[in-house]
Order: sequence, then structure tokens, then C-alpha cells
Amino acid sequence: MSKLLIANWKMNPQTEAEAVRLARAEDAPNVVVAPPFPFLRAVGGVLRKAALGAQDVFWEPRGAFTGEVSPTMLKRLGVRYVIVGHSEQRQLGETDAMVNRKVLSSLEAGLGVILCVGEGSGARAHGFGAAQRFVAAQLRADLRGVKVARGSLSIAYEPLWAISTARSANYKDNADTPEDAAAMIDHIRTFVRARLGVRPLVFYGGSVNGGNAARFLGNRGIDGALVGGASLNSKEFIYIVKMASSAGER
Ligand code: PGA
Repeated sequence: MSKLLIANWKMNPQTEAEAVRLARAEDAPNVVVAPPFPFLRAVGGVLRKAALGAQDVFWEPRGAFTGEVSPTMLKRLGVRYVIVGHSEQRQLGETDAMVNRKVLSSLEAGLGVILCVGEGSGARAHGFGAAQRFVAAQLRADLRGVKVARGSLSIAYEPLWAISTARSANYKDNADTPEDAAAMIDHIRTFVRARLGVRPLVFYGGSVNGGNAARFLGNRGIDGALVGGASLNSKEFIYIVKMASSAGER
């Protein structure tokens, strides 16, 4: 099975022209390109093989919600996947209850939800078991009332201590290994399968780059990767795409 890569550009690049250039360079099968909202239409217009993704969404369908964007608006723009519960949104105050509403309304609208979960260094300092309990509590709250109906659900495991960091500088107890990520991903998959009766795709995210992608994507338990910083460099990202497709063939 081919592994999926999500290019999460975050609040980059700065112009539509650059976004279109980057999208053309990263347009490949089994890729989701997630640009900032203002570039969705232009990027969607040039993607032929990759799918269009959004970085966030609001749960209400319409109304007096200044600054928000509904799942249906995204869907009408050609968006197929939406990232929900990214740690950078959670750090700005997004709660599990808000994440849950976003998951429910996005699935209802027929979007593919990529739900992000992951423990911080505080939970991890108490060991793998504590990190597992933290992630299970997030999943329980974020998936309340979810029955996958029209849309599809996948999960990205993104430990906070690995996002936008040189992870091995942060962790000395082997938490930064693909084996550790795969063990947590297995835990997540088991949890979701027991809860929903389907085997979800579970991706890894956190400083995945050209130098370490082969190790993470080469692990059979990891279904793909959410790539932030390295997705802004098209050469590096395409190298990761090659790693993903050869890992998928094995
Ligand atoms: P990073 O971001 O690859 O820059 O660590 C991943 C993410 O936050 O989605």
C-alpha cells in the first residue's frame, strides 16, 4: 500500500505566485497539499495528481462567526482533506470539545479528516505509558459521537516535542525513534479500530525531513507522514515522496 504524505505549509509561502510554484513542484500521487486558506483556489487549480487539503475548519455551517470557514465552503473549493486539532491550534486555545465539533461537522460534510494528536514533553517525561494515556484521552474526547459516515478519518501522531525541532537534541531516551513512533501509532490504531470498527490510516509528524524520512516511512506500521518545514522545499519534499513510494512498494 502506498504511503500518504501531507504537505502542511502552515502560514507559508507569502504570495500566491510562490504557492502555485510550490504546488506544481509537489504535485504527485499520494500527496495532500495543504496551503493557507487564501491560496486554496489557486493551488487547487494546478494540482493534477495530489489532493487539496485545508489546515483548519470551523464547525458551524453558516452564520455570524467572524473569521471562520465552514466545511461546506472548503468542500466547494475542491478541498478533500482537512487537518483538525493541530497542536499549533491547540496551543492557541483550541480544546478537545472544539476539535470534536470540527471532526463531526467535517465528516458530515464529506471531508477526509486528518485528526492530529500527540503528547507534550510533560506527559512524555513520565514515560511511554503516560504518553499513551494522554493520547488515548485526546482520542476519546476528540472522537465523541463519531461514526464515520460520508467522510473518512485518519490520525496524525505528532508529539509536540518533535514538531519543528531537531528532535534528537530534545530526547535522550530513544523517544525519537521510528520504533517509538510506530508503537504509539499501533496504540492509536488499536484504539480507533475498537471504537469505530475500521482500521484508520495513522501518520507520523514532527520534523520529518529528507534525512530521516526513509527511517520513518520504512517502518511498516507507519502509514505516511505529515510534513511541515520540509514541505516548503520542493526538492526535499519530492525526495520524501520518492522515499514514501518505495517504502509503500516493499
Ligand atoms: P514540522 O511540522 O515537520 O515542521 O515539524 C509538522 C507539523 O506540525 O505538522
